[in-house]
Amino acid sequence: PRDFLIAPSILSADFARLGEEVDNVLASGADIVHFDVMDNHYVPNLTIGPMVCQALRKHGVAAPIDVHLMVKPVDRLIDDFIEAGATYITFHPEASEHIDRSLQLVRDGGCRAGLVFNPATPLSYLDYVMDKVDMILLMSVNPGFGGQSFIPATLDKVREVRARIDASGRDIRLEVDGGVKVDNIAEIAAAGADTFVAGSAIFKAHSSDDAHGYDTVIQQM
Ligand code: DX5
Ligand code: ZN
Repeated sequence: PRDFLIAPSILSADFARLGEEVDNVLASGADIVHFDVMDNHYVPNLTIGPMVCQALRKHGVAAPIDVHLMVKPVDRLIDDFIEAGATYITFHPEASEHIDRSLQLVRDGGCRAGLVFNPATPLSYLDYVMDKVDMILLMSVNPGFGGQSFIPATLDKVREVRARIDASGRDIRLEVDGGVKVDNIAEIAAAGADTFVAGSAIFKAHSSDDAHGYDTVIQQM
């Protein structure tokens, strides 16, 4: 049996109350914090950087922080996020000039390294680096925004990556990001994913009935 992790994407949180929002999802049962970094260059949106990651650590967040870099170039920010207390650092291979070097940078900094695949990015980027990845993140939407619909072709890709991970014999997390909801998460898990990013499904589900606001939706996942 696999251990499943729920990773709320703080992209959909209330940024004016970010510390409290993160505390609430963790108290509601979330396992790790998904931290979307967008640079208005690799993707058409601009979000948060290492200072915000550091601020969450200073606020007392002890859970793993899963930094998803949607930036180009990547290496300089890898150093900054290592310093800022990241746990996982993932990047898009086509945004890195030297994929092996970027993975090594993350690992040398004591963080867990991962590659992110857009819906149409081929898995061949994994061919020579399986021994250097701790996470494979499959995008089930095109990156840049929360609240988009899950692209169904991702399910076949999940099955392919699950087979590659199992064949490698390594302990590699298989994460899916984009359009993950209560009603499709079981199907994604059945395809072989073990780590689930959910932004709008969690942060837009605030119910005043919940002690923390997010208990119901996170427990349903
Ligand atoms: C999209 C981001 C996602 C996003 C997911 O580029 O990488 O993490 O926040 O949001 P939902 O869950 O709303 O699709
Ligand atoms: Zn993400």
